[in-house]
Amino acid sequence: MGNAAAGYPRLAGLPKNYLADQLRYFADGTRNNAIMSGMAKPLTAMQVTALATYYSKLKPSGKPALMPTGTAAAAGERLALRGDWDKGIPACIRCHGPGAIGVGANFPPLVGQSAAYIEAQIKAWKEGSRRGDPLGMMHTVALRMTDAQTQDVAQWLAAQPLVPTKTSSATH
Ligand code: HEC
Repeated sequence: MGNAAAGYPRLAGLPKNYLADQLRYFADGTRNNAIMSGMAKPLTAMQVTALATYYSKLKPSGKPALMPTGTAAAAGERLALRGDWDKGIPACIRCHGPGAIGVGANFPPLVGQSAAYIEAQIKAWKEGSRRGDPLGMMHTVALRMTDAQTQDVAQWLAAQPLVPTKTSSATH
């Protein structure tokens, strides 16, 4: 796992094609990040495939962050597991799977990511500085989320174990 406190993402065990797509997006400006664009631009197609294969085969490790206390944790949990239907926000686990461990090649895991990273991605989709999500799914979700919801759900997700427990996979 990277340096979560600095907002670097988990790469280990992410789907290979997903990782390769992200590297291409950093190179072509679909995703904007000064550090990552600089690293991704010089990569050849073969290097992209090799890197994506390597990271997809690593086992994620690391400890979950501390669970926020009080109403923030409850609000974050509600959004992750049930969504906010008044605002048209589906539960995160609907697409990201029980325990937010990811589903198939297109829905990446959210567990193992830091709150800072998750929050920054939602903001990037809102502003349009991150694109490439199929059918604009995350752009749509992000536009409906308030800053408080973004922070609460990011902190709750960051506190989840890498292997789901009963509560993190319950759909209520
Ligand atoms: C309608 C389906 C759908 C729902 C609901 C959904 N997501 Fe996503 N999410 C996706 C897809 C598809 C991707 C991969 C697209 C991409 O990264 O470009 C994604 C990617 C992400 C990523 C990027 C992960 C990474 O490794 O960079 C984050 C963070 C994220 N979602 C957070 C959330 C949160 C938080 C919620 C709940 C509030 C949520 N998502 C709900 C479909 C969904």
